[in-house]
Amino acid sequence: MPLIRSCPSTPLITRISSPSFQTTSIHTTTLRHQSHTSRRSISTTAYNLNRTGNKIRNGIIGGTIVGTIGFSYLYFTDTRSVVHRYQVVPFLRWIYSGDDIPAEAGGKGAGAEKAHEVGLKALRALYDLGFGLRERGAHEYLESEELGVELFGHNLKTPLAISAGLDKHAECIDPLFNISPAISLIEIGCITPLPQEGNPKPRMFRLPTSNSIINRYGFNSVGADTAAVRLRERVRRYALKHGLTEREVLDSTEIPASLWENRLLAVQIGKNKSTPETNMEAVKKDYITCVEKLGRYADILVVNVSSPNTPGLRSLQKRESLQELLAAVVLAAGKTDRKVKPKVVVKVSPDSDGTEDVKDISAAVKFAGVAGVIVANTTVKRPLNVLASPQVSEEEKRVFHKEIGGLSGPVLLPKTLELVERYSKELGNDTVVFASGGIISGKDVLEARKRGAKIVMGYTGMVYDGVGFFGRIAEEMKRILDGGK
Ligand SMILES: Cc1cc2nc3c(=O)[nH]c(=O)nc-3n(C[C@H](O)[C@H](O)[C@H](O)COP(=O)(O)O)c2cc1C
Repeated sequence: MPLIRSCPSTPLITRISSPSFQTTSIHTTTLRHQSHTSRRSISTTAYNLNRTGNKIRNGIIGGTIVGTIGFSYLYFTDTRSVVHRYQVVPFLRWIYSGDDIPAEAGGKGAGAEKAHEVGLKALRALYDLGFGLRERGAHEYLESEELGVELFGHNLKTPLAISAGLDKHAECIDPLFNISPAISLIEIGCITPLPQEGNPKPRMFRLPTSNSIINRYGFNSVGADTAAVRLRERVRRYALKHGLTEREVLDSTEIPASLWENRLLAVQIGKNKSTPETNMEAVKKDYITCVEKLGRYADILVVNVSSPNTPGLRSLQKRESLQELLAAVVLAAGKTDRKVKPKVVVKVSPDSDGTEDVKDISAAVKFAGVAGVIVANTTVKRPLNVLASPQVSEEEKRVFHKEIGGLSGPVLLPKTLELVERYSKELGNDTVVFASGGIISGKDVLEARKRGAKIVMGYTGMVYDGVGFFGRIAEEMKRILDGGK
């Protein structure tokens, strides 16, 4: 919000930088009512304004103002500026603090969710106005071959990705890509075939002492039709800008569905809450509908069977159901109306971590010809180390023990790394493993890669760290790889 206020506007610059003109005209109007003496002094004022000294002074004032505005623009729109990490994030949290407490407990409602919405809206508004946040300066990490990764025929400059839930409704894709060239992939969604409200608010809760979140959104979605309109609009704008037809963009083997060079767009799809998980035909229809409506705008389609917030969804991870569902999605994706068909990936739960679970899911993935597995989603478990710090507040303790939903944040990292390693071994080299859960540093990313992940995703880290999160991680990775600490 403060960024919007600090934006320079053309009328403001014109008014401020022409003081001599304004002063002269005001005095000339009042001249008729003045005595001879004052008339002389007024004309002297006008004369003085034209003196070289005054011109220099006015020039300095004007230059300072324009310079300040220019500096503020460069500073506030640079994601590397400390203001984004140390002021904007705590400011948004402070504005909407205390609102997470449910109404029946005397709270105001959807605080963390509101902060998220406002943040995304500001990001989009700035981008639309031409003041999009970006990482200024050099990006040495982009030159590092060790950071680069080949994914489904695309050469990505980093292995970093934004995971699902941050841009659920396909509203903020370009402003998010614009933030940093370190972001190689954005996963939007989850998008359901029909629009649905999700769970009642509040449904997102911060645990700031441990940089964690508990959410139970329950697939609030604008639905596949609205999302498709938004995604199509991007393609149309791109086509117009580059003198191409919509068809040429969709059928290009050069332009990824993300519309950003060397970067990819993943669209996550799920079923509606009202579709019973026991009716496999209805479940398949939900996912296939999403593939048909959204597949042509995606480099990757992610099948979500692991959200803890849609009742029964995770039962779709059982081998037979998963096999059947994934095979149907892969078949539908192969018929997508674009030349380069989207790859299908499945996102699994960290709570399905038994030996048989990993074996069964891997077998279903291989059977269906799925290209990758995202390991993993949020957990319904409540690891007690979230409360380890003596600074944990009573409200955080209440949220931790009482609020139902999926937990995310750094506490997930050990389980993520363990599961990445197990899935990598089980799946072999033909299936890509994506790590998601608790990643907050370059060191975490390198460790996840060592355990077998090709792509490493983040969400909660960015909520607490701000828009500079991914750039900082990429820089840290480069530093470590170059032999630093
Ligand atoms: C508020 C919120 C909403 C989320 N929504 C989704 C979602 O719609 N689909 C999904 O697969 N994962 C969703 N996630 C899970 C994240 O994509 C990610 O897998 C998880 O948070 C673990 O990563 P992290 O610790 O880096 O956040 C959501 C997470 C949060 C915090």
